[in-house]
Amino acid sequence: MKAYRSSILRFAPDRPSRQAAVLEEDGLLVVAPNAAGVQVVKAVGQYRELIGQFPGITVEHLPGRIIATGFVDLHIHYPQTDVIGSPASGLLPWLENYTFPEEKRFSAPEYSAQAATFFIAELLRNGVTTALTFATSHPESVNAVFHEAQANGMRMITGKCLQDRHSPDGVRDETEQSLIDTEALIQQWHGTGRLGYAITPRFAPSCTDAQLRGAGELAAKYPDVWIQSHVAENKDEIIWARQLFPSSRSYLATYADFGLMRDRAIYAHCIHFDDNDRALMRETGAAAAVSPTSNLFLGSGFFDYEGADRVGYRYGLASDVGGGTSFSPFHTMLAAYYVGREGQTKPGLSLSPQTLWWQHTAGAASALRLDGVIGNLQPGCEADFLVLNPQATPLLARKTARAGSLDELLFAMIVLGDDRLIEKAVISGRN
Ligand code: GUN
Ligand code: ZN
Repeated sequence: MKAYRSSILRFAPDRPSRQAAVLEEDGLLVVAPNAAGVQVVKAVGQYRELIGQFPGITVEHLPGRIIATGFVDLHIHYPQTDVIGSPASGLLPWLENYTFPEEKRFSAPEYSAQAATFFIAELLRNGVTTALTFATSHPESVNAVFHEAQANGMRMITGKCLQDRHSPDGVRDETEQSLIDTEALIQQWHGTGRLGYAITPRFAPSCTDAQLRGAGELAAKYPDVWIQSHVAENKDEIIWARQLFPSSRSYLATYADFGLMRDRAIYAHCIHFDDNDRALMRETGAAAAVSPTSNLFLGSGFFDYEGADRVGYRYGLASDVGGGTSFSPFHTMLAAYYVGREGQTKPGLSLSPQTLWWQHTAGAASALRLDGVIGNLQPGCEADFLVLNPQATPLLARKTARAGSLDELLFAMIVLGDDRLIEKAVISGRN
């Protein structure tokens, strides 16, 4: 058992809104292993109230720092780390000219391994302790990132891309083999330690009916496996998807028609939706990965926060690297704020800093149906946390010193923060 004394930021269950954050100015976080050997939060609260319950415990004192739960990135592509910043007129040319040529290289295990090593280190440097990441269509790419996550003790979810059509040689897979490979990877990796598998149809236009049908069958056979894909990101993509699947009510409904919408299904983007699509998300339990830096960079559009909340379906924040431009959750939260300000039908939405933070931590965990497991610092949650240094840059130090409220403090970090704010990421209690 070990304890940390510091300011502690968390979402407490006794608040009127689950998105309301609490800052314990002089807090104590106690971590201890659970039955599976994963370090979890044993107790959290005010130092002076708690310390008496743990006589003799080793306490690491971190004055001037803030302990906060690790960020959860709901949608990222580890093989696109080197694709960041590739300009294109829109999604489809960007895929063809930059993304597919890079992803071809992941058939080589050594290439996948070095990319996975860099990727995991970059996530941790930026304070991301769990990600739902795409691999490529090559099983080697899945093995590489699982091995690296395992070596770091991280909770990580990934899967092999399914794309048996409209994809160039070198990334296109073969229908039957792709499903055999997916099932073998599920059996090898899903539930091994902290690792989870996601059935990963790249997007409906890249998959034949037979491949989507097979993916849906696997989703039914393995109900606690995740599903990830893309939907309604770009207008040209939508026209194409409608031509390829004319009998479905909408692009999103195509996935439902193949049994690919349920709890633990995460769809990236979800921009160009109508209320029937939103209701389908709510009724099936699927969740959206909102990826504002990607949507701004690729000119895809704006996520409709008001529509999502009116109909009431789950969503959380995601970087979508390499369409997205940054690994930093601070950059993603700031871009989400801009989208709220300027990208809504009704002008003037001002997403609160607590809500933005929640969407990248406990909210993203809830989208994954990992409430109470990750994304917060409540008793029982896995002890993945960050030590934030609000004095990390001269401007941050000035601005955070003047903060007169929790909202002002969080906004200072969201607007001015980047990897320099992350002094340390502790994974399952391991520094
Ligand atoms: N749609 C299909 N594949 C991709 C991808 O790699 N990135 C994004 N942003 N959208 C996609
Ligand atoms: Zn994506």
